[in-house]
Amino acid sequence: MTLRPTSLRCEYLTNPLGLDVRCPRLSWVPPFDQAGYQIIVTHSALKVWDTARVKSDESLQIEYAGPPLESRGRYEWKVRVWNPKGKASAWSAPAFWTMGIFTPGWHLFCPWDQPHTDQDMTAWIGESTAQTLSDKQSLPATYLRRAFQVKETIKRATLYATALGVYEARLNGQRIGDQVLAPEWTDYRRRVQYQTYDVTALVRPGENVLGAILGAGWFAGRIGLSEGRFNYGHRLRFFARLYVETHDGQQEYIHTDVNWRVNSDGPILGADILDGEQYDARKEFSGWDTPGFSDADWKPAGVEWTPNFGPVVAQKNEPIRITQRLIPVSVTEPHPGVFIIDLGQNVVGWCRSTFHQTTPGQVIKLRHAEVLQADGTIYFENMRTAAPIDTYICRGAATEMFEPRFTYHGFRYVEVTGATQPPEIVGCVLHSAAPETGSFACSSPLLNKIMGAIQWTQRGNLHSTPTDCPQRDERLGWMGDIQVFSQTAIFNRDMASFFRKFMQDVREAQTLDGRFPDFAPHPQGPENRFTANPGWADAGVIVPWRQWVNYGDKTLLAEHYAAMQRWVDYVDARSHDHIWRDFSMLAMGTYGDWLNADTFINLTGAPWGKATCPKDVYATAFFAHSTELLGKMAGVLGKKSRYDRLARQIRAAFNREFVQRDGKIKGDTQAGYVLALHFDLLPKRLRPLAAKHLVAAMKPYNGHLSTGIQSTVRAMLELTRWGYADIAYALINKTTIPSWGYMVEHGGTTIWERWDGYVEGRGFQTPAMNSFNHYAIGAVGEWMYRVIGGLNPDEAAPGWRHFVVRPIPGGGLKWAKVAYESVRGLIRSEWRIEQDVFTLEVTVPANTTATIQLPDASKPRRVKAGVHRFKTKSRFVIVPLPS
Ligand code: BGC
Repeated sequence: MTLRPTSLRCEYLTNPLGLDVRCPRLSWVPPFDQAGYQIIVTHSALKVWDTARVKSDESLQIEYAGPPLESRGRYEWKVRVWNPKGKASAWSAPAFWTMGIFTPGWHLFCPWDQPHTDQDMTAWIGESTAQTLSDKQSLPATYLRRAFQVKETIKRATLYATALGVYEARLNGQRIGDQVLAPEWTDYRRRVQYQTYDVTALVRPGENVLGAILGAGWFAGRIGLSEGRFNYGHRLRFFARLYVETHDGQQEYIHTDVNWRVNSDGPILGADILDGEQYDARKEFSGWDTPGFSDADWKPAGVEWTPNFGPVVAQKNEPIRITQRLIPVSVTEPHPGVFIIDLGQNVVGWCRSTFHQTTPGQVIKLRHAEVLQADGTIYFENMRTAAPIDTYICRGAATEMFEPRFTYHGFRYVEVTGATQPPEIVGCVLHSAAPETGSFACSSPLLNKIMGAIQWTQRGNLHSTPTDCPQRDERLGWMGDIQVFSQTAIFNRDMASFFRKFMQDVREAQTLDGRFPDFAPHPQGPENRFTANPGWADAGVIVPWRQWVNYGDKTLLAEHYAAMQRWVDYVDARSHDHIWRDFSMLAMGTYGDWLNADTFINLTGAPWGKATCPKDVYATAFFAHSTELLGKMAGVLGKKSRYDRLARQIRAAFNREFVQRDGKIKGDTQAGYVLALHFDLLPKRLRPLAAKHLVAAMKPYNGHLSTGIQSTVRAMLELTRWGYADIAYALINKTTIPSWGYMVEHGGTTIWERWDGYVEGRGFQTPAMNSFNHYAIGAVGEWMYRVIGGLNPDEAAPGWRHFVVRPIPGGGLKWAKVAYESVRGLIRSEWRIEQDVFTLEVTVPANTTATIQLPDASKPRRVKAGVHRFKTKSRFVIVPLPS
C-alpha cells in the first residue's frame, strides 16, 4: 500500500470554493509520524509556492506563504511528508481551493476596494415598487431573471451570489448548487455571507438565463422572541456576479444591475422560517428560468448600490443542505380526511409531497408536529405562535409535486388535510452539514438509543447557528445551551468551521461595554436586552476554549481574545470582592441552572427549592471558570495577563463566601457541588467531601439528579471523577423521571427540553415551553464518549496531539465501541468483558501519542501511533481519577 497524506483540508474545509482569507491554512493527516513536510501549490499548472522540505511535525493549519493569491484564482495543492528516519511518503492526491472576489465593486465598504463607476459596481436588486407590508403576513417570493448570450463553449463559469433574505439561484432551468436557505443567518448589518458555485456544467453557447428566487428568511421574516417581522429590513435583494471564462482566455461577467427583470406575483405567496410556505401552483411561471421565456410583463428590477448592510464576505462554514431523505413508517386517518404521516423519527427539514388526482384550486395543508395526542391527532400547542404549516394550492393534475424552499420545520408527524388520499411523502432532513466525526455503540440498547437521540438533536439544531430548538417560535443561537453541549457536539461532528462562524456572530453581538449576548445573532439589539447572563454569555469564552483543545488552532484564540477579555473585565468591574452578584439590569436576572428539578417538583416528592443553586454561587463559579480559561488562553498566545491571578482571587472569594469547613456549599444543592468541583474551585482537601455532599444531595430525589442544563453532564463527570462511577452509571440507566431513559422509553427519538416534557398519566408540560428537540440535556453525550468510550483530549497537547484513553466500564455493559475522527486522524477505543477478562483495543493515529489508563488501577502507559491491545481481569476496583 502506498502511504500518503490524506484528508487534505483548507481552512477546515475539503476543496472549498471562494475563500476570502488572503493566506489560507492547510491541514492533512500524515500516514506515519511526521518529521518534515513539503507542500506544492500550483495555479494554472504553474508552481506558485513550494515550501521545499520543511523540518516540522506540524500537520495542522500551515499558512500559505507564497505570492499574493489572485482574486477568483483556483489553486491546486499537494503535500508529502517524511518520517523521523528520513523516509518520504508518496505525494497526496491533489486538492484545491478557489479564492473569492477581491475586485472593486464587489465587496462594499471594504477598504481595499474603491469602486470606479456605478457600472463596475454590482447592485442589490429586487422588487421595483414598494410592496404592501403586513406584519401578519409573510412576504411573497420575488423572482428575478436575466438572459445573456455566450458565444462559444466555455472553460469555466463561477457564480458568486448572496441576498438580503434567502435565495435560490437558477441557471437554465436548474437549481444551482445544493445549499438551501443561503446566505444563512448573520447580523446582516455587520456582514452578509456570499456563496460561490461552480456552474461550468450549466452554461451553454447561445442564450442562457440566470435567475433567482428570494424569500424573507431571517432577514425579513419572523425570528424567535422578536415581535413581528422585518428585523433587519423588508426589501428582499439579490447580489451576484457570474464570471464566464472561455478557452481563449477571455473573461466576462454579468452581474446584478439594471438589466434584470422582476416579478413578485408568482407561486410562492408567502414563506417564513417559522410560519411555513404558501404555494399556489396555478401561478407558476412555466419556463421562467430558461431561454425563450417572454418576460415582457415582468418589470425592470429595482436597483440599489449601497443599502445599509454588509460588507459581503465569503461563507466560512459548511452550508445548510439536505443530508438525508426518510420514507414514512406509517399513515393513519384518526378523523375522516385527516391523514397523519409518521416519519418514525423527529427530524428537522421539510416534506417533499406527491399529490394524486388533484383539482385546480384544491387546497392541501401540511401541519408539522413532534408528538401525537392520545387520540392519534397531532400535538400542536408547543409550537406557540409559530405556524409550521405548508399550504399547497393545486394546479390540478394526475400527480403534482411540492417541496418548500424558504422555511423549515421540526417534526416527526405531518398532518395532511385537503387531499382525497394520503400523499407520498419524503422527509427531507436539512442542517448545516458539518461532517460526522463520532460514532458510539455499546451493549446497552437503551444507551445506544440515547446517543442516537443526541445525534439527531444536534443535527436538528445546526441551522447556521446552534439553535435551542427547531420547531417553535424561538430557534435562536442560545449560548448557554451550546456552551454546555459543545464538547458533545465536537465528538459527533466536525464543528470547527461552524463554531468559527458562530463565534464571529457572538463578537458582532457583543455590547460596547463588553457584555456577551445570551444568543447570537441578536436581532433585538444586545445593547437593550438579553445579554450578560452567567453560563450563557460565558459561552463566549468556553466554546473557543473547546475549539482550542480539540482543533489546536491558535488563530481562533487570537481573533477572539480581545472580546473574551472585554467580557471578563466587564464582570470583574462589577463583582465587588470577586463575587458576581450584580447580574446587571440588562441581564434580566439570570436563568441560573435552567430547568432543574424545582420545575417539576411534584413528580419527585422532594422539597421545593432544594434544586436551585443560589445565583451568586452559580454566577461566581462561571466567573471563576471563564477567568481561568482566559488566563490559559493568554498563556497559549504568549501574552502576559492578570487572569491567572484574578482566577485565584475569585476562587478564594468563592470559598470564603460560600464554602464551609466541612465542604458544604451555600444552598446545599447538587448543582452547587457540581460546579465547584467541575471548575476546580475548592481546595484539594475539600473536594472528596464536596463529592460526598453531592451524593447526599441526591437522596431527597430518590437517587436522581435535580440538576438543570448547566450542571447535568458536569454532575455525571464529577461523580465519575470522585469515585462514584457506579452512581453515574445508575443515572444513565434510569428510566424514571428525571432521566434520559425516560425520554427514549416514552417515544423520544430526540432529546427533550425538559425532563418532564411528557409524563405518563399527567401528560405534557406547559405548551409555553416544551420542545422535544433540545440538545442541552443531551450534553451527557460528552460523558458517554469520555467515560464509556474513554476518549479524553489533553489540553496540554491540543488538537488531540496527545490524548488519554481511560474507559471506565460499569452499569452492566459488556462492550463499547467508540470512534472519533480527530483533526489528526481516526481514534478508536473498543473494549469488551468476556469471562472475567477485560480487553481493550485502541487505535492511535500517526503523529500522535496516547496515554492508556486501564480500569484496573495499573500504571498508565504511553503509546505511539498504531493499534494497541490490552488485557486485564475484569474484577477491578475503580479508583478516583486524578483531579
Ligand atoms: C430556550 C433555552 C434557553 C433559555 C434561556 C429558552 O427559551 O429554549 O434553551 O437557554 O430560553 O433561559
